[in-house]
Amino acid sequence: MDSYLLTQNRDQINQQNSIHFLEEGKVLFFPEYFFREVAPDLMTETILDGSRKNISYDPSYKRMSAYKKESGLGSKLTHMMQGYADFSYQLIQATLPSYAPYLRWGRTSFRPAQIDGRLSSKRKDDRRLHVDSFSASPVHGLRILRVFCNINPNEEPRTWNLGEPFPQVLERFASQISPYNMFKARVLKLLKITKTLRSAYDHYMLHLHDKMKLDDGYQAQVQKVQVNFPARSTWIVFTDQVSHAALSGQHLLEQTFYLPVEHMLNPNSSPLRQWQKIRPEV
Ligand code: SIN
Ligand code: FE
Repeated sequence: MDSYLLTQNRDQINQQNSIHFLEEGKVLFFPEYFFREVAPDLMTETILDGSRKNISYDPSYKRMSAYKKESGLGSKLTHMMQGYADFSYQLIQATLPSYAPYLRWGRTSFRPAQIDGRLSSKRKDDRRLHVDSFSASPVHGLRILRVFCNINPNEEPRTWNLGEPFPQVLERFASQISPYNMFKARVLKLLKITKTLRSAYDHYMLHLHDKMKLDDGYQAQVQKVQVNFPARSTWIVFTDQVSHAALSGQHLLEQTFYLPVEHMLNPNSSPLRQWQKIRPEV
């Protein structure tokens, strides 16, 4: 399991190692560092609106979605989400300082629902190994960098599987993916299925995500390792690169950032550059 994680102590961070191993596809793991400003009355699934599984907050516009307005917990929730957004940014400043000036804010997400036993289609099932790609929100080559914190109050770990390295995933699936079609991308945009034009990169990443999740043989046979992130721990990972699956756990905070590849230490390790080697239109 250790070869998948780089364990760091928040008070003694090795920045050189952090950036190097993160970009190589390891998870930066802080076993004893976590976000403390969690109100106990927010730790309930009943705060979710309808069938939604996550509450999402936009730190740029200070807007919250998918929580039950009648709960009366709106301002406490906003406080927690904004606090977690700040916590995440500060952790990146301390750990990966060269990224900090170039990061773009994504959403803050609170996941108060238990994962285990959840029903969903294979494509939407994050219990199956995948790399992240968003069908409606193209990233145009930006890296997806996420900060996770397990805030479970009952000592329940967040259990993940981690799969094979990105070059191997690509090697296995790239040739099965049909070429990008700009006309189709324009139609998707026109129909508002995507928020902006789906780029060639987004097309290939989304199909990679789907191919991985839909392949039962792959899911069963690929080499993987189970990792338990304990309650009150934090981890940082490029989820567009690292094969991951969330098997069980409840009560998680997550902050998404986007990073242009040119601000990486080694842009060649990015999925974008790896796709460009095999598909010239990316
Ligand atoms: C995922 O990004 O696939 C889910 C992670 C989690 O909720 O633990
Ligand atoms: Fe994911």
